[in-house]
Amino acid sequence: MKILLAGAHGQLGRALVQPLKHMGELTAPNRKTLDLSDGQALKDALESIRPELVVNAAAYTDVDRAESEPRQAYLVNAAAPEIMARWAAARGVPLLHVSTDYVYSGAGDTPHKESEVPAPLNTYGASKAAGDEAIAQSGAPHLILRTSWLYDATGHNFLTAILSAARTREELRVVDDQIGAPTPAVLVAAIAMEILQAGDPHQTFATSGGTVHAAATGTASRHEFARAIVDGLLKRGCALETKRVIRVPSGEMPTPAKRPLNSRLSLARLSERFGIDPPDWRTALRPVLDAVARTEKKKSAP
Ligand SMILES: NC(=O)c1ccc[n+]([C@@H]2O[C@H](COP(=O)([O-])OP(=O)(O)OC[C@H]3O[C@@H](n4cnc5c(N)ncnc54)[C@H](OP(=O)(O)O)[C@@H]3O)[C@@H](O)[C@H]2O)c1
Repeated sequence: MKILLAGAHGQLGRALVQPLKHMGELTAPNRKTLDLSDGQALKDALESIRPELVVNAAAYTDVDRAESEPRQAYLVNAAAPEIMARWAAARGVPLLHVSTDYVYSGAGDTPHKESEVPAPLNTYGASKAAGDEAIAQSGAPHLILRTSWLYDATGHNFLTAILSAARTREELRVVDDQIGAPTPAVLVAAIAMEILQAGDPHQTFATSGGTVHAAATGTASRHEFARAIVDGLLKRGCALETKRVIRVPSGEMPTPAKRPLNSRLSLARLSERFGIDPPDWRTALRPVLDAVARTEKKKSAP
């Protein structure tokens, strides 16, 4: 089977490359070989590769920068998935796409369900919601996996930002009123692969309900997540300067993009339709901290 993976160099994309290679003949262009904001280039690539499965792990993910670059965010997060979906719909090709908790308003304190109408608070969330809607309307056999608070041992994410600050600062100030499920990229990749390998994606996607949440279980505030990172790395012998992780309300740390306070995602559909019950976020964090600690120790070794 010919597979096209977009975003192969991102956190999630990197975790998907090897398993997708085992599934078929993988084409995984990078931004230089295929700029997704160039719609004609994307159409040409689809026509020349003629994939039998499209996996879209690419996105414009800089949430704050999206506020000043909405056009670019919409081209990558809405227009490109729409082109993929229309191409896939015309040929009956399954499309696996990835979306975000930021499509929801974050109101209330119960988990968001897939059936909830998106009400994003920022441009990134709005552009992702537009991409999801375009895919849902396209008629393509599709599955949208919505995840939250994605991180990895490397790259730009919350964990690596905390690590970098903790190397030099005695005190970290982290918001405690944004609640979600920190989710390693490898976990979402494993869920995606389990679903892809469960049978013919045409049938699997048709019974999925179209959109399915895929995240670790349990919830944490950003502050709790930061504490778990710092404590976990100290326990693993990493040389960090941080002595205190202080709780602050989001109002004290203004950012260009407003963030949802409640990013809880209901995982009932994932369990009911696919029998997948992901681990708790603390359990999922452990192997990532092990990997980070190994790298940190190598760096500080004489
Ligand atoms: N990060 C999170 O906290 C989070 C949370 C919930 C959901 N998600 C969703 O999960 C999915 C994967 O996110 P991630 O964290 O793995 O993202 P990421 O690490 O930022 O990777 C995104 C990928 O998209 C590529 N890309 C961006 N603009 C492009 C363009 N114009 N042309 C070609 N490629 C382009 C990037 O290429 P370069 O490597 O060249 O930059 C990168 O490989 C996305 O759909 C995202 O919306 C993420």
